[in-house]
Amino acid sequence: MSGWLFRAKAKNQRTPRYNKHMEYPVTRLRRLRTSEAMRSLVRETHLEPGALIYPLFICSGGGVRSPIRSMPGVFNLSIDEALKEAESAASLGIGGLLLFGLPESKDEEGSGAWDENGIVQRALREFKKSRALKNLLLIADVCLCEYTSHGHCGVVRQRGASYEIENDPSAQLIARTAVSLAEAGADIVAPSDMMDGRVAAIRDGLDEAGLENVPVLSYAAKFASAFYGPFREAADSAPQFGDRRSYQMDGANLREAMREIDLDLAEGADMILMKPAMPYLDVVRAARERFDVPIGAYQVSGEYSMLHAASANGWLEQERAMMESLLSIRRAGAGFIVTYFAKDAAKVLG
Ligand code: PBG
Repeated sequence: MSGWLFRAKAKNQRTPRYNKHMEYPVTRLRRLRTSEAMRSLVRETHLEPGALIYPLFICSGGGVRSPIRSMPGVFNLSIDEALKEAESAASLGIGGLLLFGLPESKDEEGSGAWDENGIVQRALREFKKSRALKNLLLIADVCLCEYTSHGHCGVVRQRGASYEIENDPSAQLIARTAVSLAEAGADIVAPSDMMDGRVAAIRDGLDEAGLENVPVLSYAAKFASAFYGPFREAADSAPQFGDRRSYQMDGANLREAMREIDLDLAEGADMILMKPAMPYLDVVRAARERFDVPIGAYQVSGEYSMLHAASANGWLEQERAMMESLLSIRRAGAGFIVTYFAKDAAKVLG
C-alpha cells in the first residue's frame, strides 16, 4: 500500500504538470471565438421562438389598443385587437400566450374571474375559433387580483383593525376560476396567487369537470417583488391596502422556494414557473438541478421596463441587452420564458 503511494508520488514528481497540452500557450480559448461561425458551432445555450410565451392584457370593448405608460410596446387590448396580436405571435413561431383579463367591474370576491362570460373566457372562445392559432398554446393566468375591488389575490377578511387574506376559501375560488378558464378553452392553467393547497384544489376541480388532460403550470416560487410594479398598472391590480407579503415569498429564501416547488409537485403541478427571473436566477438554477419537471421563468414587467428605460436613454443597446437577458434566464435552467419581449426576440431569432 505504502509502496504504491510512493510510486505514484515519484511519478508525479517526474511530470510535475498533469498535461502540459492543457495549458497556454498550447491551449488558447480565443481560437474558438474568431468568427461568428466558430462561436455558433461551440455555443452552449440557444434560444428559440417556441420557448417564448407572450403575455396579453385583454379588456372589453372593440378596437381598443391602449398603451401601458410604463411598458413601451405593451397594450390593453380588446378581444378583436388581441386576436390580431395573437396571430402575429403565432406567425413568429412563439410558443404560447399568457392571458390576463381586465374586467368591466370588480367586487370583493373577484367573481369576474370565474364568470363563464368573463373577459378571458370570452377571449379564449374567440381565439379557439382561429385556425391561425392552432399551434399557439393558450395559457390562462389564474388569479383573483385583477377581479377583486381590493386588489388582493384572495378573499379578505376584516379582523378588528387588521385584515387577513384567507387561504382556504381563496383556494376554492381559484380552483373554480381555473375550471372555468379550462372549460372556455385554456390549454394550460397557471395559478399565480400563492395560496397554500391551490394546486390540489385546481387538479381536483379539473378532474371532476372531466378536464383531466389540462395541465397545471404552477407559479411555484413567486417572490413578493418590486419588479411587478408596471404590471399592476397594466392589469389594474395594485392592492388598495397593505401588500402581498403574507402570501408571496420573501426574496431572501431559496430553501423555502424548494419547499414550495416540492409541495406543488406533490399536489399535481405538471410544470413550474419561477418569478421574477433575472433577480432570481439562482432559484431557477437550483430548481433545475433538483426537479425533473419542465421549468419556466417569468421575466416580469419591471425587468422589461428597466431595460426599455435604459435603452430609451441611450444607456443600453436595446436588442443586445434584451437577447442577453433572455439568454441568461435560459442558461440558468429555464426551458421556457414568459416575456414581454417575446415578439421582439422572435423577430431577432428569425
Ligand atoms: C397576479 C400576477 C402578477 C404578475 C403575474 N400574475 C402581479 C402580482 O403578483 O402582483 C406579475 C407579472 C409582471 O410583473 O409582469 N397575481
